[in-house]
Amino acid sequence: MDHPNYDIDELISAKSIAARVESLAKEIGDYFKNSEKLIVVGLLRGSFVFIADLVRELKMPLEVDFMEVSSYGNAMESSREVRILKDLRGEIEGCNVLLVEDIIDTGHTMQHVQTLLQSRGPRKMEVCALLDKPSRREVNVEVRWIGFEIPDEFVVGYGIDYAQLNRNLPYIGKVRPRR
Ligand code: IMP
Ligand code: MG
Repeated sequence: MDHPNYDIDELISAKSIAARVESLAKEIGDYFKNSEKLIVVGLLRGSFVFIADLVRELKMPLEVDFMEVSSYGNAMESSREVRILKDLRGEIEGCNVLLVEDIIDTGHTMQHVQTLLQSRGPRKMEVCALLDKPSRREVNVEVRWIGFEIPDEFVVGYGIDYAQLNRNLPYIGKVRPRR
């Protein structure tokens, strides 16, 4: 794909992603092995490819639900406002929940979603993020499983967008502005 203003350099290959998804699923399946049912909650839209691959590697009874949030920077405060654009369809009270996110960056989005979903009384809730940018963290969030730690680069592909494009790339690449 050619874009007028930038190039995309491959950072994580489709093959490496597939191998990591398989090992993550083993760990997650092991962790939740005694649960009657797992509810896998994906944060739209960036997690949709990851979640599709992950659930097909999880050999256990599970449901899939989605939530969409958007966060806005607030120049006046260090915290950011997180707005719910689409809530879950189902209840999570008393259930085991796996929250799946594409990238943990500052941590604000995940912190808000975790607080909100915890208030609904899940039995147990753990987070799995495909990518983590630890050097960007502003608030502390508990993430049990991370696919890959990456440096402070803007990435796209495998569900992740830049201005809504590039979600369909099979690999993860970093955006390099053309000059
Ligand atoms: P946080 O609230 O700062 O942790 O933001 C996390 C969200 O920002 C992720 O769910 C992504 O949607 C978005 N994001 C962070 N880094 C990137 C990136 O490199 N590419 C695309 N989206 C990103
Ligand atoms: Mg997101």
